[in-house]
Amino acid sequence: MTERLAPKDIAHAAALLRAGKLVAFGTETVYGLGADACNAQAVASIYAAKGRPSFNPLICHFADADSAFRYVTPNELAAKLAAKFWPGPLTLVLPRAQNCPVSQLAGAGLPTLAVRVPAHDTALALLREFRGPVAAPSANRSGRISPTSAQHVLTELDGRIAAVLDSGPCAVGLESTVLDLSGPVPVLLRPGGVSLEALEALIGPIQQAASESLAPASPGMLVSHYAPALPVRLNATGVAPDEALLAFGPPLPGAAHIFQLSEAQNLQQAAANLFEGLHVLDAQGTKLELTRIAVMPVPSHGLGLAINDRLTRAAAPRV
Ligand code: TXA
Ligand code: MG
Repeated sequence: MTERLAPKDIAHAAALLRAGKLVAFGTETVYGLGADACNAQAVASIYAAKGRPSFNPLICHFADADSAFRYVTPNELAAKLAAKFWPGPLTLVLPRAQNCPVSQLAGAGLPTLAVRVPAHDTALALLREFRGPVAAPSANRSGRISPTSAQHVLTELDGRIAAVLDSGPCAVGLESTVLDLSGPVPVLLRPGGVSLEALEALIGPIQQAASESLAPASPGMLVSHYAPALPVRLNATGVAPDEALLAFGPPLPGAAHIFQLSEAQNLQQAAANLFEGLHVLDAQGTKLELTRIAVMPVPSHGLGLAINDRLTRAAAPRV
């Protein structure tokens, strides 16, 4: 039902997008669920396939900064950031350009648009072949763990989308950093693949958005998000026999079911393994009737900020 495509099938994947179909594709961060951003019906089917609340705006993906900046009104900071971090895991929120053809639904009716250029050969080839903006949220059901492999995508969305372009596992493994440049000061809406420190080194102080609001500016900020089926317990310094362990460094004694994020406590490696680890322990734990996933502490510097953001959401009370 859902076609599994290889990088050699780019032309076919682009044709499906042109026909208004949904195509999931790998990026350096996570797999995205792509649709023609200018086709409101195609965009509507993203929300339907994901079961996503309609107030959640989508990121538009482009092959290069010049293309992206035709759809928004860039400013000096945006140009500087794009020059340094694109292609790469950074999303910029900017005012929509006048007569921007991206469907209002893709931007959830906001006057701004989130744009990014992924650092991934297959994704860039697809974007070049398609030639227009591709709206793509992470290719998971709303509120669930983001997919970092084509198999993760199929597990959640098989039969609901036309195709998945399999380009192997995602190198970064965490979503892009979302930075709002549409106001008087830059605001971090979502920590992600480019660290706050790296951004501030280039443009100076960045304000951090409040962690939650009723009508979220960035609904990646909804409290319960990235949720596995099993409950998650953070900052574990001990582990019970009926718990699975998400380890960071030498595993806690007594753990029977372990997924190692990074034995050497390397944050980049841990980021790349995070969602895979949650997927694996969730499936294993559910099968073995474990009660919980216990997570060892991860420091909050560099990519650790984004890792802890996702873990906190995975552990948040479910609505
Ligand atoms: O790495 C990524 O960013 C992946 C890959 C596929 O590119 N995409 C992704 O999309 O994570 P999604 O839809 O799961 O998350 C997009 C985030 C959400 O938190 C959304 O609220 C925010 O970006 N966002 C999108 N447009 C926005 C806008 N105009 N203003 C504020 N936030 C926006
Ligand atoms: Mg997502």
